[in-house]
Amino acid sequence: MRADWPELSDLLLDTDPLTLARKPVLRREVEATLKKHGMRAAARIVRGIPGGDVLDPAFVDGILVRSHCELQRLSFEFRNGERLLQLLRPLINVLRERTTERPIRIVDIGCGMGFVLRWLAAHARLGSDIELLGCDFNPTLIGHAQSLAKEEMLACEFRVANAFTLDRKVHVFLSTGVIHHFRGDSLTEFFKSQASVEPYALLHCDIKASWAAPIGSWLFHQARMREPLARHDGVLSAVRAHPRDVLLNAARTGGRPLKYAFFDGRPSLLPILRSLNTLVGIREEIRSEFVNAIGPLAPRLEAFE
Ligand SMILES: C[S@@+](CC[C@H](N)C(=O)[O-])C[C@H]1O[C@@H](n2cnc3c(N)ncnc32)[C@H](O)[C@@H]1O
Repeated sequence: MRADWPELSDLLLDTDPLTLARKPVLRREVEATLKKHGMRAAARIVRGIPGGDVLDPAFVDGILVRSHCELQRLSFEFRNGERLLQLLRPLINVLRERTTERPIRIVDIGCGMGFVLRWLAAHARLGSDIELLGCDFNPTLIGHAQSLAKEEMLACEFRVANAFTLDRKVHVFLSTGVIHHFRGDSLTEFFKSQASVEPYALLHCDIKASWAAPIGSWLFHQARMREPLARHDGVLSAVRAHPRDVLLNAARTGGRPLKYAFFDGRPSLLPILRSLNTLVGIREEIRSEFVNAIGPLAPRLEAFE
């Protein structure tokens, strides 16, 4: 696997970011891309998808839903809810002091089936002045997120929407396992789109690039995942994880005036023990209060630049 290979999930769903309309995915185009990169395992998965010239969208949705169910398993095992909450709670405390705007809106970009926001709504008791809004292009995943939230009577909302063109004020953007899907210019654009709506902070948690990440990911996916696409893209995600400098450069190029630093981002001798890190973006005016507010966690946060 190589970092320039595309993830299969990104090839199987094509959504217009403006109209949110789903476009037909042509089998020959997907096959040509996979052939160009020599992605034989992915080509076998695509051969199993019914449909003629156009890949059957209902079958593709089934694959994506099963894969996201398995992805939730990973989010659960890696405690992604707690992971974000340890930074989010102090951030919310600072925002409560520094802005009179209510609700304080937290938007999960590419929320999928909404594990992190549903976890926060179920466990974090953030308060009624906090709004949790998950956005994703995929209506099937959002449908599942909405019905799971309804079943559990959770105070969080999910919308089929482009997270960057919402008609509401966003105070904090967050994401889990999303940032490596944006590459090159679109990574810079990812930060530009967020900075343009003037949030107070960004928290983007993703796989930490290291020599151990693909091996660890392969082991985890062999042990815990069964859906072929989930296994394929899961390991490829670890290969595609952005090195810290790539992420910081893109953030600082596209995402000014926010300042950026990694939490848990320092390279370690045993990277398997710290397999995820979080890129934090923050407005200068609340930077030092935020650093004070995270208290004993401060040594794990690098200096903002
Ligand atoms: C890897 S998946 C989501 C994983 C999910 N965060 C989780 O942890 O289970 C990436 C998702 O990002 C969504 N996406 C990409 N760009 C987006 C945007 N601008 N607005 C909303 N969703 C977006 C895609 O539709 C896709 O479902």
